[in-house]
Amino acid sequence: MRLKLRIWRQAGPTAAGRLEDHVADNVSPDMSFLEMLDVVNEGLVRKGQDAIAFDSDCREGICGMCSLVVDGVPHGPDRGTTVCQLHMRRFKDGDTITVEPWRAKAFPIIKDLTVDRSAFDRIIAAGGYVSVNCGGAPDGNAIPIAKDVVEHAMDSAACIGCGACVAACKNASAHLFMSAKISHLAILPQGQVERHRRVVAMIRQADADGFGSCSNEGECEAVCPKEIPISNIARMTREYVKAALTTGG
Ligand code: SF4
Ligand code: FES
Repeated sequence: MRLKLRIWRQAGPTAAGRLEDHVADNVSPDMSFLEMLDVVNEGLVRKGQDAIAFDSDCREGICGMCSLVVDGVPHGPDRGTTVCQLHMRRFKDGDTITVEPWRAKAFPIIKDLTVDRSAFDRIIAAGGYVSVNCGGAPDGNAIPIAKDVVEHAMDSAACIGCGACVAACKNASAHLFMSAKISHLAILPQGQVERHRRVVAMIRQADADGFGSCSNEGECEAVCPKEIPISNIARMTREYVKAALTTGG
């Protein structure tokens, strides 16, 4: 396939950005989207030009590093799929594809398609630790937990922290991300000690980092590569109200 690409180029955080035209030749339908960009970059480097900066790590859909908006959709057109797992067979010969970075005030652009997502790290850090009894490693079955509770918690724990939910939201809200993390711990016995403190601290940190509020658009759920349900946001709101009433703040 031969594809026309319109790729966001921006030399640095304060530089002006623009969409730059590139051509990707000899693209195999079996290539991943990132492998296609690797080939474009090899061509640029051979010509002595600056390679297009983009994030990736595992390329297996588990680390949350890849972060491209493809034709206006974070992670591209395939539902429940990270952009590193998006394959070029999804496109047709001659297509024009626009590639942009996550866009949100809390995720400033570092260069080209890479953004700084350390605001998510600060939210996780604000959530803090879980208290456990010290001593020897506890028996795996010492705390019985119902199967449906475990599965619910693990479904929430599937969030890979990619930030697509923020990029898709017109408010740049981090609610789906936070609600996944909060739900994961709020419904397990191990997460109870800090339950109230955690939800208040994480939401305060998200506000401080400039994430917006939630107005139930549902765009976050639609683009989430791990299909985290928006119902988690309702649980987070209930957790927050309970915590505010309990702690007075
Ligand atoms: S909730 Fe989904 S889209 Fe948001 S950070 Fe987690 S995995 Fe990514
Ligand atoms: S590179 Fe790890 S999830 Fe895409």
